[in-house]
Amino acid sequence: MFSLIQDRRGRFSSLRAITLAILVVPGLRLGVLWAMGDLGGRPVREVTHGTGDFAVYFLLASLAITPFRTVLDWQRLVPLRRMIGVAAASYAGIHLMLYVIDQRYDLIKVATEIALRFYLTIGFVTFLGLLALAITSTDGWMKRLGRRWKTLHKLAYPLAALALFHYFLQSKADVTAAVFVAGLFLWEMIWRLTSRASRLHWWPLPLIAIGAAVATAAVEALWYGLATRIDPIKVLSANLDLSYGPRPAVWILICALGLSAIAAVTRWRQSRVSQTTDKRRAVLL
Ligand code: HEM
Repeated sequence: MFSLIQDRRGRFSSLRAITLAILVVPGLRLGVLWAMGDLGGRPVREVTHGTGDFAVYFLLASLAITPFRTVLDWQRLVPLRRMIGVAAASYAGIHLMLYVIDQRYDLIKVATEIALRFYLTIGFVTFLGLLALAITSTDGWMKRLGRRWKTLHKLAYPLAALALFHYFLQSKADVTAAVFVAGLFLWEMIWRLTSRASRLHWWPLPLIAIGAAVATAAVEALWYGLATRIDPIKVLSANLDLSYGPRPAVWILICALGLSAIAAVTRWRQSRVSQTTDKRRAVLL
C-alpha cells in the first residue's frame, strides 16, 4: 500500500498520494452512504451504477494521460497511468460483485443473464479484458512480454469503446451522461489520429475540440435515430438551442476549448522562459 505513494526511487510522491485519494474516495463515499442507509430503496442498484460510472471515468482518465502529458507538457503524469488503469479494473470488479449480490448470489442466474442479455455480455467481455490488462500491468509482466506488452495494452482503446457501448445500452431512454463520456473518448481518439509533429503544438487543439464536438453530436443523433423513434435532425438541432441548458456536444466543445487555452498559455510561458535563458546565455558569452 505504502509503495503506491512512493516514486520509483522510494521517495514520497504527493502527486501519487493525491491520485490515490481521488481513486479511492468515490468508492469510500458510496460505501459510507450505503452503510448510513442514504441510498434509497435499492442501495445495491445505486452502488452498481456508481461503481460502473467510476470504472468508465478512470478507464478514460488512464487513456487521457498520454494526450495530457503532451498537451500540458507534464511528464510526471506518466507513472500514474498504471495506478489509474488498475483502479478502473477494480471498480469494474466491484461492479460485477454487486451485480452478483443483487442476484442474491445465484451464480447460475448471473451466468445465464450474462449469456442472454447483450449489454451484460458486452460488460463481461470488457471486464475480462480489463482484468487481463490489470494483471499484466506489473514490471515483471512487462519484461516477460517484451514488445508484445505494448500491443496487448493497446487493447485498452477497444475496451473503452466496449465499456461505453455497455453504458449506452443500459441507459434506456436518456443517454445524455453516456454521450458526454463518449465525447471525451472521441476527443482522445481524434487527438491520437493527428500527426505526431502537430501534437507538439497547441494550435491543432481548437480544431480537435470542434471535431470532437461534431462527432459527439453525430453519435447522439445516431443513437436516438437507431435506438428510439426520435428524429435525429431534431436531436442535432437541439445542440443549437441552449434554453434547456447545453447538450453534451456543447459541453465537450467548452471543455476541449478550455484545454486548448491552457495548452496555449503553457506553450507561451515555455517560449518566454527559453527566450530569457537564451538572452542570459548571450550576455554571459
Ligand atoms: C462484469 C460484467 C458486468 C456486469 C454484470 C454489469 C452489470 C451492470 C448492471 C446490472 C448495470 C445497471 C443496469 C440497470 O440499472 O438497468 C450496469 C450499469 C453500468 N455499467 Fe456495468 N456491468 C459489467 C461490466 C461493466 C464494466 C467493465 C464497465 C466499465 C468499465 C461497466 C460500466 C457500467 C456503467 C457506466 C453503467 C451505468 C451506470 C449509470 O447509469 O450511472 N460495467 N452494469
